[in-house]
Amino acid sequence: MGKKKPRLLLAVETSCDETSAAVLEGNKILSNIILSQDEIHSPYGGVVPELASRQHIKSIDYVVGESLLQAGLGLEDIDLYAVTQGPGLIGSLLVGLTFVKGLAYYFQKPIVGVDHLQAHIEAAFVENPGIEYPVLALLVSGGHTSLYFLEKPLSYRLLGKTRDDAAGECLDKVAKFLELGYPGGPVIEKYAQNGDSSRFHFSLPRMKTPGYDFSFSGLKTAALRIIRENNLDKNHPLLSDFLASFEETVVRALLENLARALDEFQSSSLILCGGVARNKRLRTRFSELAQQHHLPAYIPSPRLCTDNAGMVGALAWKKYQATPKVCFDLELDAYPR
Ligand code: KG4
Ligand code: ZN
Repeated sequence: MGKKKPRLLLAVETSCDETSAAVLEGNKILSNIILSQDEIHSPYGGVVPELASRQHIKSIDYVVGESLLQAGLGLEDIDLYAVTQGPGLIGSLLVGLTFVKGLAYYFQKPIVGVDHLQAHIEAAFVENPGIEYPVLALLVSGGHTSLYFLEKPLSYRLLGKTRDDAAGECLDKVAKFLELGYPGGPVIEKYAQNGDSSRFHFSLPRMKTPGYDFSFSGLKTAALRIIRENNLDKNHPLLSDFLASFEETVVRALLENLARALDEFQSSSLILCGGVARNKRLRTRFSELAQQHHLPAYIPSPRLCTDNAGMVGALAWKKYQATPKVCFDLELDAYPR
């Protein structure tokens, strides 16, 4: 390994259905290329794991090349590699991991393995490095819905997670049932914009045990029942009202848990992150809740909410600075959960 201080980092993210590569100089993102597979999975109403890993294999070379091109750098300039280890689809994760291992082996450079969920939280720090700890972070994506308490940098205390479906998954499944395509969140948001959110009644999910776990499968079942009972479809005049009511309930379920945690955990800042954090209703309500508690709210810009390698690189850099002796680690393994 060279003696010069590592400065330039190449990060790769392939945990689900986005192939992404980013080049960073320290914590500054120079390029962040995201190639979405939405069109491939859309006919199936959800991600098909085998198709996802095959597409990553096809795209990874191009995406990494583009990230270097946009940064005006070559592979020989890279000092440090970062890659998502998990959680995610195992076949997809392995594509990124193996690719990065090959590069690191060839160029004899260290690799920092990164947790995908922690990277989503880190996305908020990319645009606001000075976020004050302790932090309460609500992560809402297609695969996960979790609440974290971070007392200090790189300390992640999981307060609660979903016991069944993730919030994004719940949106995706209802959209699939209505044949609205994948991903469901953005389509639902579009319809819901002009709808009356008080038109349909949904009960909020209630957990029977204390704590901060979430549950969305009951809400999904209730939504499917209302769709059937009212014969709702793409062209039904009440579809916008239904989707606005449904989206509103998902947002309320998420924020009710966060509000309870705010009473118990003294925090200085709030973070909202993950793909569903692109949703305008959720962003607005989250900011309002923060305001009520006189706390600053940090939500990454929409591009950094979706899976991207920039957030992976940013977290890798933070980890590297905390523990510079990261190994040149060809043993690094993927973990699906
Ligand atoms: O974080 P992400 O890109 O991938 C995972 O790690 O899962 O999140 C994808 C999820 C999908 O469920 C998608 O429907 C949802 O984020 N999503 C949205 C919006 N954009 C994406 N949900 C609600 N409103 C949106 N605008
Ligand atoms: Zn994600």
